[in-house]
Parts: sequence; structure tokens; C-alpha cells
Amino acid sequence: MTTQSMGSGQFAAFDLARVPSPCFVIDEVALENNLKTLKALADASGADILLALKAFSMWSLAPLVNQYLSGTCASGLWEARLARAHYGGQLTSFSPAYAPSDVDEIAALSDHMVFNSLTQVSRFEAQARKAGCEIGLRMNPEHSEGEVARYDPCTGGSRLGQPISQLADASLDGISGLHMHTLCEQGFAPLQRTIEAVTPFLHSKKGQFDWLNLGGGHLVTRADYDVDGLAACLRALGDEFKVKTYLELGTAVAFDAGILVGEVLDVTDNDGPIAILDISASCHMPDVIEAPYRPSLLGETGELEVKLAGPTCLAGDEIGHYHFADRPQAGQRVAFLDQAHYSMVKTNTFNGMALPAIAIWNSQTDALRIVREFDYSDFEGRLS
Ligand SMILES: Cc1ncc(COP(=O)(O)O)c(C=O)c1O
Repeated sequence: MTTQSMGSGQFAAFDLARVPSPCFVIDEVALENNLKTLKALADASGADILLALKAFSMWSLAPLVNQYLSGTCASGLWEARLARAHYGGQLTSFSPAYAPSDVDEIAALSDHMVFNSLTQVSRFEAQARKAGCEIGLRMNPEHSEGEVARYDPCTGGSRLGQPISQLADASLDGISGLHMHTLCEQGFAPLQRTIEAVTPFLHSKKGQFDWLNLGGGHLVTRADYDVDGLAACLRALGDEFKVKTYLELGTAVAFDAGILVGEVLDVTDNDGPIAILDISASCHMPDVIEAPYRPSLLGETGELEVKLAGPTCLAGDEIGHYHFADRPQAGQRVAFLDQAHYSMVKTNTFNGMALPAIAIWNSQTDALRIVREFDYSDFEGRLS
């Protein structure tokens, strides 16, 4: 995959030496700009926009998020608790399969509980309804738009959502809403094609559902996204099917709003220079290996190609090849762009790696707050 980042933005002016290393630095102005775009979309479309906590659950910024979005969406019990502890508004929960022991509490915390299959609906609907929670069903439109199967919920054999072909004769009794999440960091055209594909089904069930949740994966805050097209589409869906529409966005909320700052620990040579950083792809940016993709480097310039890699034992703990004007030196700071979403929530302490600190920077006032630092006790405390 390729990074969607549009570039350094205001981070070009940030002095990387101001924070401990490694450290996530979130620009609250960039975040607020994204939130303003999303609020304008909500106003223009009539849709409610929720923050997908799985992508960005930096709760110290919840007060800012609360000013603009209608609520959150959670992937299970702990995110649902986090949502109610820190965020306002509505809460939608979705899990590919709920554990029976979690259902009562999730239902009590959530406004909508979206189930992945009709079997989960029939198993848990009474409990959910008793807690006052509306029931939703995730459907799989069986219309693929993804470039990479691992990120395509509609790929053949997908476990995500009840295949739409199995729903033609199914009763939606007791189900208040339909949900689909089919995209990954994509523009409006793939959504439009997906909606065209599901429209005959939606017509066949017209009047049987009150809301339609179009999930996430819509990169609405990227400069080239057709926001007006999406707003018109959401409004048309709401009008045509007499439903409330929802989006649950993660990447779009925090897009290009954060960097991960690290430091060069050593520079060696083997088929060219290799700079070993205190940032590990495996521990701090696992999507670099999983997707895989090459994150953009802040201020990349020059002719010298250098491999940037992590300090863990994993031979594949490599970030990629980057260009430098001069050979990097131990102690030099570097930063990777667009790391606010997914990287922060996915960090781990493999090899006893330190977790990156978390800082909030205001690119207008230049104010900087280190809101979280981790130490040995965080590593020890999650093992026994
Ligand atoms: C069900 C569901 N909703 C919302 C999202 C958020 O997607 P994104 O961060 O791409 O907007 C995801 C991401 O995987 C998801 O699985």
C-alpha cells in the first residue's frame, strides 16, 4: 500500500528535540481542522459522524472531539468503557463476535449494538433490547473495492458481515439498523459503486430499518476527497429510505495530524548505510510490516539512500529506504508522518521496547504538552 499522507504540513516547523524519544506528537490544530470538515459534512448531509476508537483513542483530546462529532464507535467492551469514561454523545458497538460475558455491559453502555451475523442477533437480541439498546446487523455487500485482501471486508470468504446474498429471504424483525464497512482509506467513488450495488437490496427491505451505518474507510479529510458528493449521497440515502445515516470514521479524524519522532541510535553499512532507530516498525508502527507500507519521512531530501530500521531482534524490523543529504549521525532526530491513527493504538513492548511518549502540540501557538510518558512498570505490569 502507499501512504495517503499529503506531506509535512505544520510539522515542518516543529523542533524534534523538544520531545523525548520516541514520541507521538499530535497537532491539535490539524486535528481540529479535520473535525471541522467532518462537522460541516454532518451538517450538510444529516448524517451523524462517530469517532472509531479502534483507530484513534487518544482520550486526552476527547474534549476537542466532543465539540464536533456525535459520539464514538467501539470494537468491544474496553473501548465501550473508554467511550463512556471520556467521550460524549452516542455509542455504537460492533464486534465480529461478542463474548457472552461482555454482552450485558456492552449493551448497557451502547445506543446501538451491531451484530456480525444473524446467529449473534438471535443469541443476544433479548439481552441487548432489555438494556435499551437498538440492534443492528452488519451486512457484507459482496462488492469488493479493496486493493489488498487483508483490508477488504468484502474479499471472498470474508468473516465480516452477513453476506447480502443470504439476506434476501431473511426477516429483519427486531433489527433497527443496517451496517456496512467495506472500504479502507478510500475516496467517494468506491462508496458510490458500493451503494449502487446494495440499492436493490435496500429497496427490498425499505421501511424495515431505521438507520444505515456506512462504517469507516472514507478518507473524507484528505484534500482531494469529494466531500460534497458524499454529503449529497448521504442526504439522498436518508431521504430515499427514510433512515438516519451514520459514518464511523477513524483515519479521517486524525489524518495527517500526528508524527512519530525517533532518534538514530547507530549507523552501520551492509549494501549501503543502515540507520538503526529507537523506533521499531514491529512495536511502534506495525502497519509498516502488516500492510505493508512505507511511511513518509518528515523533511526527506538529498541523494544518499539510507535504510531506516528498528532495534528489535526481528530481521524484518525495517521501515524502508529514505533519502538524506548527509549520512545520519547517532543522536539525530527523525520523524515519520501521519502516525496519529492506528500506530498509537497498536504499539507493543516486544523485546522490552519502550512505548513512545504522547505529546500535544498546538501549531498556532507553539504550545507543547507531554501528556503521557511510559516506563519500565508499563512493560512489567502487563506480564506476570
Ligand atoms: C467496523 C469498522 N468501522 C469503522 C472503522 C474505521 O475505519 P477507518 O479508520 O478506516 O475510517 C473500521 C476499521 O477497520 C471498522 O472495522
